[in-house]
Amino acid sequence: MSQHPKPLIAGNWKMNGMRANLSELGIMGAHFTPELRKITDLMICPPFPVLGLAAEMARGTGIHIGAQDCHEKYSGAHTGDVSANMIFDAGATAVIVGHSERRIDHKERDTTIASKAQAAMDVGLQAIVCIGETKTERDAGRAISVVRRQLKASVPAQADPQKLVIAYEPVWAIGTSLTPTNADILEVHAAIRADLKRVFGKTAGSEVRILYGGSVKPNNAREILALDHVNGALVGGASLKAADFMAIATALA
Ligand code: PGA
Repeated sequence: MSQHPKPLIAGNWKMNGMRANLSELGIMGAHFTPELRKITDLMICPPFPVLGLAAEMARGTGIHIGAQDCHEKYSGAHTGDVSANMIFDAGATAVIVGHSERRIDHKERDTTIASKAQAAMDVGLQAIVCIGETKTERDAGRAISVVRRQLKASVPAQADPQKLVIAYEPVWAIGTSLTPTNADILEVHAAIRADLKRVFGKTAGSEVRILYGGSVKPNNAREILALDHVNGALVGGASLKAADFMAIATALA
């Protein structure tokens, strides 16, 4: 992995995390040393009920707090939804949009995801846009074309590249302990990078972080993070415990 752009290791807690679990965030903060801060950015994306509390706990530790989804509008009659400006107001600096679990569970489409990403950027949040193929698509040799199509449709037309992060997460690798080969990860990330450069220009397109996600663990982090065009990781299961998450972060050192 090149050290530029600065890597980001982001933890997606999904629907896990009570107030008591924030003690793990405290431990992560205590181990996020000034030396490590120079090497990587760290982020935890907890569920909404503890978002504000997590942001308060993380203050001064250097750990960023992100949300896992947002609505594309800022207010109104949308029972149960949370807007990007509410997330910003709670002290978060980022939001994940288009995670495959949202695409599947809530039937989210690329156009909605692009609107969510734009809403996030408009209030000053980083938008972590998730894309990735299913097993059937990979087996059919369509991984690259699917990912490129999702990238084109899920990144808003007016996107600010400085507020954009792409997470390549093969659906079949999430929570399964399966990962693509290094060559496959490299191939997809290189294709994403080429498209980002085409859209945003060479310089801005090279600055957008492309994270890999899907069964990143302490034992495979080093080799995955060493790949070209891999600028960090989006980590699910292994982000719940400080020991695992910090082992992934220190794999960069
Ligand atoms: P996993 O999840 O690390 O548990 O596979 C990754 C994700 O869904 O972001």
